Amino acid sequence: MLKTHSCGDLRSTHIGETVFLAGWVHRRRDHGGVVFIDLRDSSGIVQVVFDPERSDCPADIVHSLRAEYVIRISGNVVGRPAGTEKSGIATGSVEVVVSAVEVLNDSPTPPFYINEDVEVDENLLLRYRYLYLRRPRMQANLVLRHRMVKFIRDFLDRQRFLEIETPILIKSTPEGARDYLVPSRVNPGKFYALPQSPQQLKQILMVGGLERYFQIARCFRDEDLRADRQPEFTQLDLEMSFAEEEDVLDLMERMTVELMQTVRPEAKFPLSIPRLTYAEAMAQYGTDKPDMRYGMKVVDISDLAAQTSFGIFRSALESGGVVRGIAVPGCSRYSKSQLTELIARASAAGARGLMTVSVIDASMGDEGIKSVLNRHVTGEQMTEILARFGAGSGDLVLLVADQEATACKVLDSLRREMAHRLKLADPDVFAYVFVLGFPLFDWNQEANRWDSMHHPFTAPREEDVHLLDTDPGLVGGRHYDLVCNGSELGSGSVRIHHRALQEKAFALLGYTGEQVEERFGFFLRALEYGAPPHAGIALGIDRIAMLLAGEESIREVIAFPKNQNAVDLMLDSPSSVDAGQLDELNLSLKRQIIDRT
Ligand code: AMO
Repeated sequence: MLKTHSCGDLRSTHIGETVFLAGWVHRRRDHGGVVFIDLRDSSGIVQVVFDPERSDCPADIVHSLRAEYVIRISGNVVGRPAGTEKSGIATGSVEVVVSAVEVLNDSPTPPFYINEDVEVDENLLLRYRYLYLRRPRMQANLVLRHRMVKFIRDFLDRQRFLEIETPILIKSTPEGARDYLVPSRVNPGKFYALPQSPQQLKQILMVGGLERYFQIARCFRDEDLRADRQPEFTQLDLEMSFAEEEDVLDLMERMTVELMQTVRPEAKFPLSIPRLTYAEAMAQYGTDKPDMRYGMKVVDISDLAAQTSFGIFRSALESGGVVRGIAVPGCSRYSKSQLTELIARASAAGARGLMTVSVIDASMGDEGIKSVLNRHVTGEQMTEILARFGAGSGDLVLLVADQEATACKVLDSLRREMAHRLKLADPDVFAYVFVLGFPLFDWNQEANRWDSMHHPFTAPREEDVHLLDTDPGLVGGRHYDLVCNGSELGSGSVRIHHRALQEKAFALLGYTGEQVEERFGFFLRALEYGAPPHAGIALGIDRIAMLLAGEESIREVIAFPKNQNAVDLMLDSPSSVDAGQLDELNLSLKRQIIDRT
């Protein structure tokens, strides 16, 4: 090795030792003759001192050193002079007095600072990803991710799971996104699909008698990107034979708690993960991925609204809708323009309107309450409504009268927004929750057909199977989600393991017999040969790492992510290919695409 020690490891116990260090110039300060350099490697930073009185390093070399030069030094570890120790960094009590320096490589001025966590245009950070990766925060994130994955592998090994790889060049797996396709050269006109998840393969492993499978699996989905979505991402994918809901949930609970104890022991998290039904989650939080770090729960006042003569309430209720709201603490003094802005936000989330009740001073009755409702509800009705919310002086009640789905969507969005403004979500709290009891299907209004709530392989509740023929909307699914701090971390289910039931599910989802045979024939055949009952789950590794690292985007925990347009700016990918390559694949591009490129 070119070094005897790592920069971040030096402590006062090393005082008196001669060390060789190698790393990057993190920061450089020239104090007229004496030059201080913060030297950085992956372990951390230590101060090294070039003092012409204590060494004879060539002055021209010392003065040529710039940020991000790679250097190797040798020198003596000394205690920092009294008063110059730095408590904020691990090596703050020592420095290295350099006796020899060697420049291993130089660097142009980087396009952004490595040594300061300042905001930079993200496209620049992605183009120069190797420089961004040098930032201590990114290094810490990747260390955390490594620890997480290592813990998961060890934990599942102890539970007698086998890590088994499944192929990347496969056939379409329906997970609700578009497939990435790969043309086959040797089979002209045919395409592989990259896995949206290894769902069918892991189920076939169960048919293959493997009983306990897991994989840190790369998945590919061509879908609209967001802060928590990448076109390629990583799942902890897992499947167990002869298992039911409780077995998977129990395993996930133990794994999650031990994972937290291993990588974020100082954080606050539940030792047993609470559960909510889908119906409770939607009613109380307006979403199936609630952030449970704070209250501000959704309250239904439809019954009270029905007793008023308020036209907006009545028309919403008459068309089968609901009247629901949240009480936001401490916002009763919101100005007219602040309220108008909230109304605009609600409209953007799909609401026809938003009614506000500002409880300035509850003790003053009507006088102390500012609201459009004042003209339409009696004092008693208002008192009852506020009591239902538990609202008092200082609170701002936000009310939506709309179809249930819209009310849920709008109130979820407002609840998150207000919690963000009021800083109600403690970043050191990890409020895990299992959500279960989802319906099996969701009616797709536009396409006029049933969609799977999860995916077509989820089993219906046994007691609901008879409803598949008569009332699919009422069939409960054996599906569960792991949610934390408002984010869906994972999803799984007990699976269908009989061919006939699987065929029925496909038929309900609108697949023709021919389509089923063409897409899922191999899978249905496998189910025929003694498929055991089985259940599983997949957790989003990137999302968990993002959450545990306290980041807002999964790009911060992925070494080489893609931007919002699914482009890798460093590799400049996707990119054009030459005509010869297309020819070999028997492909040709449409004229207008050739003109554009
Ligand atoms: P699902 O589609 O819900 O289930 O995915 C499981 C988890 O994977 C993560 N995830 C993503 N992370 C980053 N970018 C994406 N584009 C992305 N899409 C999904 C989420 C999600 O909860 N085969 C089933 C699992 C099963 O039934 O066992 C599946 O893939 O954290």
